[in-house]
Amino acid sequence: MKIISSIEELRDQLRGQLRTAFVPTMGNLHEGHLSLMRLARKHGDPVVASIFVNRLQFGPNEDFDKYPRTFQADIEKLEKEGVYVLFAPTERDLYPEPQEFRVRPPDDLGNTLEGEFRPGFFTGVTTVVLKLFSCVQPRVAVFGKKDYQQLMIVRNMSKQFALPTEIIAAETYRADDGLALSSRNGYLTPDERAEAPRLYQTLNEVADEVRGGHLDIFDLERQAMARLAAHGWKPDYISIRKRADLQPPSAGDLAQGELLVVLAAAKLGVTRLIDNLEI
Ligand code: PAF
Repeated sequence: MKIISSIEELRDQLRGQLRTAFVPTMGNLHEGHLSLMRLARKHGDPVVASIFVNRLQFGPNEDFDKYPRTFQADIEKLEKEGVYVLFAPTERDLYPEPQEFRVRPPDDLGNTLEGEFRPGFFTGVTTVVLKLFSCVQPRVAVFGKKDYQQLMIVRNMSKQFALPTEIIAAETYRADDGLALSSRNGYLTPDERAEAPRLYQTLNEVADEVRGGHLDIFDLERQAMARLAAHGWKPDYISIRKRADLQPPSAGDLAQGELLVVLAAAKLGVTRLIDNLEI
């Protein structure tokens, strides 16, 4: 595997490649990321991964400085997956001057759910993803459904800018007890780790209620948040949305069987976890 930090060198290395499959990451790789690499391999060749902890998508009181950085271990994992190039730019490589041009998602998609609780987050994500796409020029790029809103925003960005990159969605990779794998799980204490699967259980309970015909969405969301809070969680939201545009469903949408997804974000101790489930 070639490890490249400069944009110029990356372009030289990938010149003429028409079927590149790309997986952008922030490192601290776990099985979830590796499943994205395997899916990428099915959709293109060569597979290119990136590791870049993107300051633009972290708020002033978030965990940019303490975000886990495990570069050597990550390299070994990517080598085993047969990744051809790891693009691992420094901040100076990717942002040689302050990144003044930014991509701002539309408010209805970018300022709701995660965007409401993490202002500016999606502008940071789309700006770096567009820049990484410009460096790698992939034909396909793989994003996990774990970050459902991110996946949807990147997909819409790619479509609206007519980028030549098809966005592929990968299923969420879960531990045996249901907890979605995430780099931030490493912040959990053993007791919190034992409690953490309740988030996914709660999503399943909500989904079961909806499937069973309980369509008072607001009531379901409120009750689910209360159940989490009773076990020491601090929920930011549990929200049932339309899969198509992540807007709340109207009574008419529900009557017509619109496809739904339930999304959640909640803090356990100091760790903020997110998850979602298609209904
Ligand atoms: O999902 C992530 O790890 C990041 O948001 C991404 C897509 C690599 C952009 O920094």
